[in-house]
Amino acid sequence: HEQRIPALPGFDSTLGFLREGYAFIGNRCAQLASDTFTTRLMLRPVTCLRGAEAADVFYHPGRMTRNGAMPRSVVSLLQDRGSVQGLDGRAHHIRKAMFLELMTPERLDLARWVLAEEWAAAMRDWQGRTIALRDALPEVMTRTALRWCGIPPEQEDVPERAEELSTMIEAAGSIGPAYLRALRLRHRSETWARRQIRHARTGPIRDGALGRVAHHEDADGSHLSDAVAAVELLNLLRPIVAVGRYIVFAAHALHVHSATVKPFLASNQAEGARAVGEEVRRLYPFFPVIGGKVRAPFDWRGRSFRAGDWVVLDLYGTCRDGAVWAEPETFDPARHLAPGRPDHAMVPQGGGDLATGHRCPGEHLSTALLTEAIGLLAAMTYDVPDQDLRIPLDHFPTWPRDGMKISVARGRA
Ligand code: HEM
Repeated sequence: HEQRIPALPGFDSTLGFLREGYAFIGNRCAQLASDTFTTRLMLRPVTCLRGAEAADVFYHPGRMTRNGAMPRSVVSLLQDRGSVQGLDGRAHHIRKAMFLELMTPERLDLARWVLAEEWAAAMRDWQGRTIALRDALPEVMTRTALRWCGIPPEQEDVPERAEELSTMIEAAGSIGPAYLRALRLRHRSETWARRQIRHARTGPIRDGALGRVAHHEDADGSHLSDAVAAVELLNLLRPIVAVGRYIVFAAHALHVHSATVKPFLASNQAEGARAVGEEVRRLYPFFPVIGGKVRAPFDWRGRSFRAGDWVVLDLYGTCRDGAVWAEPETFDPARHLAPGRPDHAMVPQGGGDLATGHRCPGEHLSTALLTEAIGLLAAMTYDVPDQDLRIPLDHFPTWPRDGMKISVARGRA
């Protein structure tokens, strides 16, 4: 019999979504025995989707726009006006290419090399101390991001930039004073980024990510305005700093799943760290959902989706879809080495086609940095002191409660 899209009982689900957080859509899907349902969020009618099949429906080429699909507060901290995520069709394709052309194998290797160097420098400060990786990594990642973009950190106020870039991510799910403070920091950061763009445009800087953004030609052959170029520069810097969150989660996994991870790394010298990183990306909570508004109408499960309809895909839940992942809740890095990994259900950074869709262009860069960091953590001598290792799911985004503290050995570690 034909599957239909059930409606969730109750008028609006916003409170449930906030209370259950990352698990909300999955919990309701389990109750309804359906991978999709309709409800209201923030009083607006929405269709929620979860799982590999639903992700294919959502990421069908050209079907969704991101415009009007996410709360304005999230957009103004994470992407802002004029950014690639707000474009569609050919304009999007050409802007997206600017990001993708930066992700060559050489530039991914460069990112790993820079991170290793910054990590070694930070180690001089960490040795003999207990640090929370949540607090220690933003500056390491900010220096890495600046260097990768071609901006020498010694000429910059790194703590200020680190505060801005990490607060944009940290406050994306907040309201009230925390959100307003983040918005103020975002404006300060944009002012700084516009200065970088103007400097690149008047000086000799053509290479590196900064040069590429400063001199990019859009679909109509024009350069980006200073404001939009600054937004796109922040679209490179901010998410590189965000990879630090995955590194915190990797340290958590190395500790909590050490019985699995240690022997796995020992017997998979070549690919082990990458596979552990993939399992961290699959299981640890980062982007809960992605919203889309229908651009090209379509029919699915006996329902007509019309232009402007709001659809929300559960990224967290799709990565745990039991229909395609064996023992989906088990931390098992070996699944990423086996042939036939269900790639269309590996959507922590979105899915579908990279060049024409909105899938994250920084996925390979994230994986490269995370792989390097797992190697660095595995080679380091440290203890994990008693602390609260729980990761609350009712908070976007989230951390281990005590920030993943480690006590680093003295001397050469
Ligand atoms: C888009 C997650 C790292 C740049 C996205 C999307 C997600 C995401 C969920 C939206 C996908 C969609 O709309 O369908 C993440 C996570 C990261 C990460 C969890 C790791 C911490 C990066 C990095 C970069 C980057 C390292 C660049 C250096 C972007 C850009 C977009 C995007 C520019 C917009 C793409 C478009 O609309 O076509 N990311 N990302 N991200 N990400 Fe990432």
